[in-house]
Amino acid sequence: MLINNDTIIKDSDELIRRKSADVEMPVSAEDRDILMQMLKYVDESTIPELAEEKNLRPAVGISAIQIGIPKKLTAIILKDEEGKKICEYALVNPKIISNSIEKACLAAGEGCLSVVEDHEGYVYRSARVKVKAYDILQEKEIVIKADGYLAIVLQHELDHFKGILFYDHINPKDPFHRENDALIIE
Ligand code: CO
Repeated sequence: MLINNDTIIKDSDELIRRKSADVEMPVSAEDRDILMQMLKYVDESTIPELAEEKNLRPAVGISAIQIGIPKKLTAIILKDEEGKKICEYALVNPKIISNSIEKACLAAGEGCLSVVEDHEGYVYRSARVKVKAYDILQEKEIVIKADGYLAIVLQHELDHFKGILFYDHINPKDPFHRENDALIIE
């Protein structure tokens, strides 16, 4: 399976709106392979030489529907400024089990491998989430307690399972509307 900026499903394709199904447990060899290739994409996409060579657009996460597979699989890697991994997940059937009432959004807005055009505006999400999933890197069920950037990324990726894109959350009349008490993450 070739995953690059040309093969990733864009929002011009209605497949991106399709809902993803639960993955059958235990995780099959085929599903593991798909997820590990997604993880590899995310890792390589933030290494400039590889990204250029392989036509990869930088990303912190990808969900399987973005490569045309409607299954609940998500790969996420956050790195620091030196490119060192802060966290890495290869998640099967991730699900939000609790979320804060407090909202947060990224000051710079969000982007997505499936969205070519810029969509400026605040994307308000829960400031904190707990996500339960099976992580094939750890070979166990885990609960991720996330806040800040990771909480936003998790919610963005899990939205893909419902066919929701980040700009669906932007207020069309007032994209930079300030919600009371919401955190703006710089
Ligand atoms: Co996305």
